[in-house]
Amino acid sequence: MAKKQPDVMEKIVSLCKRRGFIFQSSEIYGGLNSCWDYGPLGSELKRNVKEAWWSAVVRDREDVVGIDCSILMHPRVWEASGHLQSFTDPLVDCKECKRRFRTDDLEDDRHCPECGGELTESRQFNLMFKTFMGPVEEAAAVCYLRPETAQGIFANFENVATTARLKVPFGIAQIGKSFRNEITPGNFIFRTREFEQMEIEYFVKPGSDDEWYEHWKQARWQWYLDLGINPNKLRLRDHAEDELAHYAKACVDVEYEFPFGWSELEGVANRTDYDLRQHQEHSGRNLEYFDDGTRERFIPYVIEPSAGVDRSLLTFLVDAFEEVESDGGKTERFLRLHPRLAPIKAAVFPLVRKDGMPEVAKEIFHDLKKRFNCFYDERGAVGRRYRRQDEAGTPFCVTVDGQTLDDRTVTVRYRDGREQPRVAVPEVGPFIAEQIANAKSNVV
Ligand code: GAP
Repeated sequence: MAKKQPDVMEKIVSLCKRRGFIFQSSEIYGGLNSCWDYGPLGSELKRNVKEAWWSAVVRDREDVVGIDCSILMHPRVWEASGHLQSFTDPLVDCKECKRRFRTDDLEDDRHCPECGGELTESRQFNLMFKTFMGPVEEAAAVCYLRPETAQGIFANFENVATTARLKVPFGIAQIGKSFRNEITPGNFIFRTREFEQMEIEYFVKPGSDDEWYEHWKQARWQWYLDLGINPNKLRLRDHAEDELAHYAKACVDVEYEFPFGWSELEGVANRTDYDLRQHQEHSGRNLEYFDDGTRERFIPYVIEPSAGVDRSLLTFLVDAFEEVESDGGKTERFLRLHPRLAPIKAAVFPLVRKDGMPEVAKEIFHDLKKRFNCFYDERGAVGRRYRRQDEAGTPFCVTVDGQTLDDRTVTVRYRDGREQPRVAVPEVGPFIAEQIANAKSNVV
């Protein structure tokens, strides 16, 4: 068990608010438990995480296509998928203080861990959010907010396979919101009731599933390393038999060592032909795949790498966060985010607000803005401007100084190094773009 460092999480939550990464939802009304809003820097970071995932699993491959399904689906989908029956957590209530707990989180399932009061018998609680379609709140109008994006993919298996002319093995990827009425949300954005998932359903011929399971396990592990996650804080953990979801033959979690302990980031599961077979049975549609080479018909098996956008983002933030004591005894904070993920790629400063330096700096800023998200700042001491960018995770700062006015070169300061090469003004954009494209780790 990892040594707990709760203060690190508090520092990260505070930095996220101070710098506009993440705010509590509805804060002016006192907030809404477990709901969070992404601010200007957070929404850029989130887009970059999703973009890095989409590039790796869709654009850089030839065998995966994307899809974007609705959140509300026919209620029979959840009957077929087994979620109505089995997507439950065991729940107990305290008869005294009325708090609720997941039974499996408790050491003593008879007494409340908060007030010592007596607990109710454990009962199963379905995690799906229920709502009504249309103006009448009646049983026939009940529908659910999807608890996973996967079912939209299964329900569209035939549509996508035929229109995209795909041959097994192939995958369908989706990024989107999912909702779960979690009993114990918490740890900032780690477990929330509304969150985003990045899921791939990879359809394979039965018998080749073990091989593809290994492939995706490795591919997804490598994705986190390529984006600079510390390998010593990452591990793969196989699910024990009694932990497996109702649809899975095997599952492995990619886990990260958060300040609150080792926790799941992503699961890679072998879902067998469970979902397609269930949908075939409940919908009456034939969902068999016909292999026109071997003339065989079969229901494909599915390997599913399923990651959380918010959890990945939290991981990148936690892994990137560092405090350093400066020579002057001050604490300096860094977010050593991989340049591909950094919300601001470059900040542009005039050294001072005179002698024509702001004009040149603005010219560079407007040029760089065409390529990536940039920030212009001319207020305060340049040292403080650098510190603010270090804390926001900005990998490069471009400074216009006296020499610029003579030779049209600027300094490019690296967030993590001591180098400050001089680069000709027209070369700044291509120079930074190359640094980002070639970054092998999160340290620049
Ligand atoms: N389709 C399979 C599936 O949904 P899961 O393990 O329940 O599997 C996959 O969820 C991923 O979704 C998790 O590894 C996590 O990253 C993210 N996730 C699940 N529940 C979450 C929650 N309440 N808050 C934030 N992220 C969550």
